[in-house]
Amino acid sequence: MDKFITFEGIEGCGKTTQIKMAGDYLSGTGIPVVLTEEPGGTAFGRKIRDIVLNRSSYDISAEAELLLFLSARAQHVRELIKPALIQNKIVLCDRFSDATMAYQGFGRGLNTDALEAMNAFAAASLKPLKTFLFDLPPEIGLSRAMRRISQLKDFTPKEDRFERETVAFHERVREGYLRIAKDDPDRFVIIDAAPDVHAVFDQVRSCLLPLVT
Ligand SMILES: Nc1ncnc2c1ncn2[C@@H]1O[C@H](COP(=O)(O)OP(=O)(O)OP(=O)(O)O)[C@@H](O)[C@H]1O
Ligand SMILES: [Mg+2]
Repeated sequence: MDKFITFEGIEGCGKTTQIKMAGDYLSGTGIPVVLTEEPGGTAFGRKIRDIVLNRSSYDISAEAELLLFLSARAQHVRELIKPALIQNKIVLCDRFSDATMAYQGFGRGLNTDALEAMNAFAAASLKPLKTFLFDLPPEIGLSRAMRRISQLKDFTPKEDRFERETVAFHERVREGYLRIAKDDPDRFVIIDAAPDVHAVFDQVRSCLLPLVT
């Protein structure tokens, strides 16, 4: 079974913090692990990321945004994820197809049946073995994300496109994620992302270890 594990949840819920802790933990026990992210996991994806998270003035429709994310995923799966899985590596990925369903489906209101088919096409039908969903009220996630942005070296007081969205949008995304998890309970582990980073990682570690050993 492919050991492909994804980390999902709204902005600022702690995905990047937790995936790094998981990567360090597994590497420390001598387990070969690849850490990657969407949409930036390949050189092509990083170009897409710059376009889609643009801080400039052009519009991107929901449909155009969807196709950009899917395009980055199509490249990511074929160039990086599948080859690593074929080499029996464990792949930990920061966001994947569930993010498309949650943001573009539940958040932006695009047709979720169509999205399911498009997700499968882009991902060459690859599905995660396990998905950690870091659940958190959007107000807390957004305030964490804004704090992180303000600590960046090249700080300018502009957020990215998703951080500029309303709390109601992020609430739809959160509810969307919970709905997706409810429909696929064997794959999802819902983690309470509100406690401190170490308490959250304790929850991750206890589920992760049986998957990889
Ligand atoms: N459990 C936690 N408690 C308090 N602060 C946290 C916690 N986890 C992460 N943080 C902090 O919140 C900020 C956002 O965390 P992180 O970047 O890991 O979130 P993310 O889910 O990857 O966000 P994004 O979707 O924007 O990439 C960081 O500054 C991080 O240090
Ligand atoms: Mg992140």
